[in-house]
Amino acid sequence: KLPENVTIIEVGPRDGLQNEKGFVPTEVKGQFIHALRDSGIREMELTSFVSPKWVPQMADAAEIVSACYDAPGRSIVLAPNKKGIERLEETNCRAVAVFVGVSNTFNKKNINKTTAESMEELRPLIADLKEKGYFVRACISTAWHCPYEGKIPEADTLRLCADFAEAGVDELSVADTIGMAVPTEAHSLFAQLKAIIPGILLTAHFHDTRKLALANILASMQAGIDRFDTSAGGLGGCPFAPGATGNVATEDVVYMLERMGIKTGIALDRLMDAVEIVRPHVSRPIESTYFNMHASA
Ligand code: HMG
Ligand code: MG
Repeated sequence: KLPENVTIIEVGPRDGLQNEKGFVPTEVKGQFIHALRDSGIREMELTSFVSPKWVPQMADAAEIVSACYDAPGRSIVLAPNKKGIERLEETNCRAVAVFVGVSNTFNKKNINKTTAESMEELRPLIADLKEKGYFVRACISTAWHCPYEGKIPEADTLRLCADFAEAGVDELSVADTIGMAVPTEAHSLFAQLKAIIPGILLTAHFHDTRKLALANILASMQAGIDRFDTSAGGLGGCPFAPGATGNVATEDVVYMLERMGIKTGIALDRLMDAVEIVRPHVSRPIESTYFNMHASA
């Protein structure tokens, strides 16, 4: 049975822009975020408190939070470590996303620690954040495939997800970092996660590298998932995952779901306005099918 409503978690301002080499002006990022909210988006990743040496695009994270945080719904900011969480605690942000790869090699390249070292660092930080009343999301990278290690054993992903659940997170966002999962793999993992980790928000994060994200979303819904990370304009990609391209485009997902009678609460025409705001500031063409069929010339 398919869901009647789906929650879209917009990741464009964060995943969508982090891989852009040219700095997108802070003001443009703010306009993008406001336009996304105007389209009906109620959950969004705004930015990341990561090292500006590693990801210069996110150097304005504190300014973004102070200019854009207060709004209806849930706004989330990424933090990879203690220092990131300390920076975040100096702001009015109330929802944090930590991120760890199932693959050790990927995790080393992305945050300079093994998966176990990251987990060890994060466990007490998560407990502390929960005590202080924060919403905590954990993004699980390379849940199916890794650009360095290849196919990831399903049992490893299930174990890491269970560890985060035990650590007390509110949400798991399970990610196909390099867009290599197929619908059978998506269905299998989510069906098992639903069974072993009840009572926690489960979200799917598909990159659309091989154009299988929509099929994976359908398969995930069939496994009981009703929350999806998507990125307006199909922008996105992790700077430390070679071959990763954009996240599945919000407009393509909203189009498919609404045509299926599944409500998202998002207005497609307003979403297009949001994409138009960032389009002149990004280096790559907008690849989403919906945008290219409907954008004015
Ligand atoms: P490191 O070099 O090992 O850090 O990097 P360190 O602890 O040794 O510290 C070195 C310096 O960085 C120190 O400064 C620290 O203060 C500073 P110095 O003393 O040299 O002046 N530092 C920081 N500064 C600002 N904010 C911080 C911070 N931490 C340390 N939080 C580190 C380790 C984690 C910082 C680095 O590897 C990093 O920033 N990585 C982030 C990479 C990233 O943003 N990746 C993309 C997001 S994840 C993703 O896209 C995947 C996802 O979409 C799901 C999917 O699709 O798979 C979520
Ligand atoms: Mg991603």
